[in-house]
Amino acid sequence: MITSRGNNGPNVMAAEWVMQISYQPVLIGAFVHEGSQTLKNIERTKEFGINVASQDQTTEVNIAGGYSGTELDKLKIKSIFELIQSRKIKAPLIAGCTINAECKLVKKQKLGDHVMIVGKVVDIRHDDSKRPLIYHKGRYFGLGSTIAQDRVEVNVNTDMLEFFKNIAHEKFVVKCVGVVVESKKKILVIPGSKTALDMIPFSIPSPGMNQRDHLIKFLKQIRLNLQVEDIPIMKRLILKNGKNIQRVNFVLFKGKIRKPTKMEKWKSLTDNSLISTLI
Ligand SMILES: Cc1cc2nc3c(=O)[nH]c(=O)nc-3n(C[C@H](O)[C@H](O)[C@H](O)COP(=O)(O)O)c2cc1C
Repeated sequence: MITSRGNNGPNVMAAEWVMQISYQPVLIGAFVHEGSQTLKNIERTKEFGINVASQDQTTEVNIAGGYSGTELDKLKIKSIFELIQSRKIKAPLIAGCTINAECKLVKKQKLGDHVMIVGKVVDIRHDDSKRPLIYHKGRYFGLGSTIAQDRVEVNVNTDMLEFFKNIAHEKFVVKCVGVVVESKKKILVIPGSKTALDMIPFSIPSPGMNQRDHLIKFLKQIRLNLQVEDIPIMKRLILKNGKNIQRVNFVLFKGKIRKPTKMEKWKSLTDNSLISTLI
């Protein structure tokens, strides 16, 4: 719900086309139609409130969206809206919302049949105890359950899990790039400190770095002369040891040995559940 204040006093409208569009500074964009009282108010005062409705506010949203401020002083309707005072703007805020953001207008642009208004957030408060109201295909919904991510679960030993947890540095997902080289039902590995830690050659590119280029550079560094195919294979895994887990993404490329040496170490696929998941 967008709150504003104009010549006729404060007003509220329902708006679904609203989203955060920048972190630093925090900017919120909203798209409002030209006939709305809200747009006129914002053009005049260059400020507005964004009030993210909670699940108990379908009536408020329906009224805010069903009538214009030109038709009715919506905020004065008996026993519907409870207002709270803003700290940095003159328009009021709506109580009972999940988020109340006070915004100063930084940009306005007509786009198609709506007008984009962008506000810089100058004050914000949120109530974690409230759940946001969802509007979809003209109906109201609550937040559903979280959707389990489609990842393959792999049971690994404690050492392997600890190894990836250490690399993760508490990141939600470790993003690795590796190469799979198969020969006679065996797979090329780089030896770990314990044999249980032997893994396919893999590395972790820094963010933004091209994954295949990084892999090729890494292989050169460890003196593996491989030909690397260019079709990426994506494996999204959850490594598990009891209740302990770590999410790991592997971008994999198939590879071939250019010139065999005696240096390569090969491992049978049955030896290691993680490696067998990767091929
Ligand atoms: C759930 C809901 C979402 C809406 N979203 C928008 C929106 O994103 N942009 C818009 O211009 N109007 C939207 N509307 C319609 C306005 O809220 C409506 O035109 C309102 O009467 C405008 O009020 P005002 O003239 O007092 O500003 C929505 C209405 C509802 C019920």
